[in-house]
Formats: sequence, structure tokens, C-alpha cells
Amino acid sequence: MPVDCQHIGVRIKAWASVLVSVLKRIEGVESAYQSSRVTLNTYLSGIQSSGLSHLGNWFGAMRPHIQLQELEGEHFYFIADYHALTTSRDPAVLKNNVRELAVAYLAMGLDPERVTFWRQSDVPQVTEIAWMLSCVTGMGLLERAHSFKDKVAQGVKPNVGLFTYPALMAADILAFDPTHVPVGADQKQHVEMTQDMATSFNAAFGAEVFQRPEPLIESDERLAKVVGTDGQKMSKSYGNTIWLFETGKKLKKAVNQITTDSRPPEEPKDPKGVLLFRFLELFLPAEELEGWEARVLEGGVDAPGYGHLKARLIEQIEETFREGRERRMEFLNDPAEVDRILVRGAERARERAIAVRDRALKACGLR
Ligand code: ADP
Ligand code: TRP
Repeated sequence: MPVDCQHIGVRIKAWASVLVSVLKRIEGVESAYQSSRVTLNTYLSGIQSSGLSHLGNWFGAMRPHIQLQELEGEHFYFIADYHALTTSRDPAVLKNNVRELAVAYLAMGLDPERVTFWRQSDVPQVTEIAWMLSCVTGMGLLERAHSFKDKVAQGVKPNVGLFTYPALMAADILAFDPTHVPVGADQKQHVEMTQDMATSFNAAFGAEVFQRPEPLIESDERLAKVVGTDGQKMSKSYGNTIWLFETGKKLKKAVNQITTDSRPPEEPKDPKGVLLFRFLELFLPAEELEGWEARVLEGGVDAPGYGHLKARLIEQIEETFREGRERRMEFLNDPAEVDRILVRGAERARERAIAVRDRALKACGLR
């Protein structure tokens, strides 16, 4: 029946355009979608379980990951617990961070039916691939890693694991043949190093073992690099974070940490120079945000003070994550369900990683 077919065609087109517009902000997704007509895309990413997820992790990584699951294709997300070991020294804390990260993803909407979701250390093939990659990687490449240099500059005494971190990350990625790696802007260089390692290995052994993936970075700078309470990039290592599920007095305390100055409310101020607006713009609808900005710019007796702005921010953070906080409690009260999801994810992930590991072993003559 030609009329029905046309109708279905229109509906499919409309549905596809909704998806594309939702994800338009993420660089490359449109082209990813285009190419998905030929072969399906595979999205893969990981987050270190080195602390509780903060607003930067949410906007820069977790939210895009959860949104991407709506796209046709394969989806792989994991908890990078081996990476966390480069800095973690407290077993109980590490265990708790792994659980909290798994729960955060699930509570915020990651669908384990659509996404293969696992814990990195449950797929040991990745560490085997990391070794093979490290044997074709020059010291110079690793020495140029920004995140390594930053940590050393902060006074961290580097261990070998921290230095070879990019080789393990490259293995995490290459073990699953992904086409796209959605990450925050700070991880772009690591994905580029992954591309280099894939090329080096393939060239060294004259075989197409690893597929070069593309980084997928949020193109809205405010989301790709969320600022912390001190105005630097929000990061667990800078102690300037706001935990995603923070609430009540503790949330108030965290928001109060956002740096302000002593200018009075009446004094007209450029909102660009007010750190609080970097937070408000993540949460408020555009129209409301413009209203607050105009009043601050104008100054005078009706202008809101920093206290007003903080109160509004707290209210909106509470509201945005209310449902997530409730679902977090449900998952925390059902640890067996979380374990079941991770175990099943690891089984699926291992199947894939074994095939790639075998390809690599064969290419270099170990089998
Ligand atoms: P941290 O810097 O707090 O240790 P991670 O390195 O564990 O954060 O990052 C986990 C994910 O969250 C990565 O994809 C990273 O790019 C993203 N991310 C981390 N901090 C931010 C931020 N401030 N803004 C946007 N994305 C971020
Ligand atoms: N390095 C990433 C971070 O700090 C975590 C990570 C480990 C990762 N392996 C990965 C991200 C593979 C993407 C793909 O968040």
C-alpha cells in the first residue's frame, strides 16, 4: 500500500531529525549519523572511579553518553577502575566509588538493555592489549600528555601506571572497535594518542588490527569544560567540585564556595565577569537567564545580590537531580541488581575484547 509506506517513511524521517537535533550540539554526531546509514556507529567511553561524579562529569560526559543511547548503533560504557588505581590507596573508598559511579549512571537513565555497561577490571583482555600497545609507543608520545604533565605540575609523584595511563586508555577503546569516543574536552588528546597507537601497531605488524576512532566532543564550550567553584575547570583533583546528587545543607555549602567578590548588588556588573553565571547558564532556561543577566548588568536597587543568585542556583540543582537522587537510593538499596547489570555487561564486553585481543596476538606473532 503506497500511502502507508509514505506515511511510515515520513514518520521515520521525523523521528531521525528529532534525534539529530537533540544531539546536534555534540560535534561530529551529524556526520556520525550520516555515516550510520552505511555502517552502524559504535560509541564507547569510560569514566574513572576516582571520586563521586560532579557537575563537570555530568555535563561533559555522563549526560552525552546517556543521550547517545537513543541513537541507532552500539553503545559501550564502562567504569575505569584500573585507571582509578593510579591514584587510589584506600580499598574501601575505591569500592564505594565504583558502586556510586555505576549507580549514578543507572539512576540518571543509562539503559543497560541498550548499552553494554561494565567494570573495566572485569575485562582483563584490555590489560593484555595495553601491553601490546605500549610496545609500539614511544616514550615521547606519553611524555607529551597534558594530563600527565598537569598532575606532575600539581606535585603528584608519578608512578609508572600514571605515565602509561594513555596506553591503557587506548586499549580500553581499541578493544571494542568503536567509531566514536564521546568525552569531555580534556580527554581529546588521549583519544588522539589512541589513534596514533592504533596506526603504529597496524604499521609495525602490517595488519589492520585496530580501527582508528574519532573523539566526540560537546561543541558547547560551557558543557565541554564546566568550571569549578574556584573558576578553574571543575575536577576531582582540584577540590572545586559540586557532587551531582548533593542536596540540602551540603549543597548550600558547596554553592557558597563559588567565588564571588565584595561588590554590592546595586553596582552594575558584566555577567560575563560573574562566576555564578557560569553555573546558572547550565541550569536555567535561556529566557530566565537573560532576565537575571539584564538585572545584574543594570544594577540599582532592584538588582539581585550574589545571595539571590546562589539561592536560585541551589533550587534549580535540587530540582534537576531530584528524580536521579531518588533512583540512586533505590539502586543503592538493591546492590544485587547493580552487580547483575555489571556482570552481564562484562560478559558481553569480554566476548568482543577476546576477538580483538586474538587478532592482535596473531598479528604480532604471539600466536
Ligand atoms: P576529573 O577531572 O574530575 O578527575 P575525570 O577525569 O574522571 O574527571 O573525567 C570523567 C569524564 O568527565 C571525562 O570524559 C571528562 O572529559 C569529563 N569531565 C571531567 N571534568 C569535566 C569538566 N569540568 N567539564 C566537562 N567535562 C568534564
Ligand atoms: N581517562 C578518562 C577520564 O579521565 C577515563 C577513561 C579511561 C576513558 N579509559 C577510557 C574515557 C576510554 C574514554 C575511553 O575520564
